[in-house]
Amino acid sequence: MRPLIAPSVLSADFLALGDSIDLINRSPAEWIHIDVMDGVFVPNISFGFPILEAIRKRSSKICDLHLMIHEPGRYIRDFRKAGADHISVHLEGNWHIDRLLNEIRESGATAGLVLNPGTPVAAAEPVLHLCDLVLLMSVNPGFGGQKFIPETFGKLAELRQLIERKGLDTKIQIDGGVGPSNAGALTLAGADILVAGNAVFGAADPLQAITNLKTAHTKE
Ligand code: DX5
Ligand code: ZN
Repeated sequence: MRPLIAPSVLSADFLALGDSIDLINRSPAEWIHIDVMDGVFVPNISFGFPILEAIRKRSSKICDLHLMIHEPGRYIRDFRKAGADHISVHLEGNWHIDRLLNEIRESGATAGLVLNPGTPVAAAEPVLHLCDLVLLMSVNPGFGGQKFIPETFGKLAELRQLIERKGLDTKIQIDGGVGPSNAGALTLAGADILVAGNAVFGAADPLQAITNLKTAHTKE
């Protein structure tokens, strides 16, 4: 199966954001990945509602929100209103993750649970039935352009097994350091959705880079 591709606009040129959205619209990517960071949950600040609303107006792709903020539950409705189709929240720091995932689904968005590199896959098990997807971070969240953490492959295999054992249809998304060198192997190992920032917007030909990520597993 070909993976779904979610280009991350964090690595786009913000002065020409409209052009980047148009490029994603023309590409075979199905999703557009939007990283919201508050400088508290992660050591970086990205952008918030006005940018999300602007992207939503221009984008024809599934709007995939990755919240790296303190107390995301306070803003689920607002993010939904601003245009998020899918909302992912971290397990870390969210004491009432069961409630939070339910709230996301009740808002009408699909729900994702994010696990940092240091969080074991088993921690997702009690709420897996509430997740439309689980996002495995393959870098420590906060910045684009970091190096892929290879231990992600072990977690991916474990998560795939857990989902199958429970008979669920939960999708697996990988985020951080994904590029031509690992996209094929990640897909063959069971990743359904690949997020890519630097590998797309740092490439000489971003459109071709998206196509390459989609077909990388056929060349392995
Ligand atoms: C990192 C973000 C990622 C980031 C990925 O905290 O969650 O979505 O944009 O960027 P690359 O693909 O460059 O590692
Ligand atoms: Zn992300």
